Amino acid sequence: MTSVGRALAILGTAAAIHAQGPSEANYDEAKVGSYTLPDPLVFANGQPVTSKEQWPARRAEILALFEREVYGKTPPARPIEFEVTSRDPKALGGAATREEITLWITGSKAGPPLRLLIYKPNGAARPGVFLGCNFGGNHAIDADPGITMSKSWMRPGKGVENNRATEATRGAEASRWQAKMVVARGYALATYYYGDIFPDHKDGRPDSIAPHFGREQAPDDWNAIGAWAYGLSRALDYIERDKTLDAKRVAVLGHSRLGKTSLWAGARDPRFAMVISNDSGEDGAALARRNYGETVARINTSFPHWFDGNFKRYNGRVADLPVDQHMLISLIAPRPVYVASAVEDRWADPRGEFLSALAADPVYRLLGTGGIAAKEMPGIHQPVGSTIGYHIRAGVHDVTAYDWERFLDFGDRHMKR
Ligand code: GCU
Repeated sequence: MTSVGRALAILGTAAAIHAQGPSEANYDEAKVGSYTLPDPLVFANGQPVTSKEQWPARRAEILALFEREVYGKTPPARPIEFEVTSRDPKALGGAATREEITLWITGSKAGPPLRLLIYKPNGAARPGVFLGCNFGGNHAIDADPGITMSKSWMRPGKGVENNRATEATRGAEASRWQAKMVVARGYALATYYYGDIFPDHKDGRPDSIAPHFGREQAPDDWNAIGAWAYGLSRALDYIERDKTLDAKRVAVLGHSRLGKTSLWAGARDPRFAMVISNDSGEDGAALARRNYGETVARINTSFPHWFDGNFKRYNGRVADLPVDQHMLISLIAPRPVYVASAVEDRWADPRGEFLSALAADPVYRLLGTGGIAAKEMPGIHQPVGSTIGYHIRAGVHDVTAYDWERFLDFGDRHMKR
């Protein structure tokens, strides 16, 4: 190998390590160690939960623990105000009607607005909806030139200049959203830019919706994930007001940090009919106690604005957490939940994502559903599950057409009218 070749190879390795996260992470299954998960079916006082009638009381305990120790407390919902700002009945080559709606979600027009984009399949009467936040602005989810460009603060990335999106980012995330596929399958697609609600950086809070709720930042106060999830519930409020959509059939979904967000939104708000987590990893679907890939200490250091203040107390002390992520999935029961992983996404711990879904199975069974209907982690491209769905696909941390096909299949199974 030439010296230039060697230098490139080294650079390539450095880039690969960066993509996977810092090198201190464990990727050796033999070094994961043993751990004991808290039992979702045992009350805090040690009494077992033996009937489905007892579950709501235990569910309330678990929800309170996640609010206090992990994601922070969300203030009570405030009424929305909204304005439809654009409408194109011939979008996506005539397959859909595109609407843009500005929502004010802080109880007044003072706070930052949420700009919702909806594609409705033409010819479908009251379709169900797939709703999720996006990373790059609404204009990035499809090349459709009619989508308004986001003017909000954005993390550095391709086509982002001075933390603002440029035209070069139009449609940049189209493969992650598959708008045409979703409407062809008879569902509406609704999304908003998460940075509208809480700019995703450690000093983003003053420009977020949080200050408009007037609380001092207590150790159990909500933070970015709580605020992004609050936005999802307010988007659902809007969907309830739009009688052309079926608000009883709304799946909330998200990728990565936004998959953590969709799980939290779905756990808190029982109006979501279905919940989808894509590659949500640490403090999303993956078990926190499993020492593989990202850790609680790492995530709290890199992203101190995602979780509440109390959660930082568990850095390096995950065994002391009163919850683990299978209990987050349990909060969604008996509603259908889907967990998707990718083989090369080791940072997110695919096995930990599966094991967490598996450990929620007893709750789903107690509530009379089929649960995950699997005992072992399936192979690549072999989706499993009944009310808890799971797949692992080939490839990297991303949302692909394959993932969407499975989500839509799962939607057909569980959200048919
Ligand atoms: C980082 C972070 C993950 C997160 C991911 C993402 O890698 O460590 O926890 O899921 O970003 O949101 O893309």
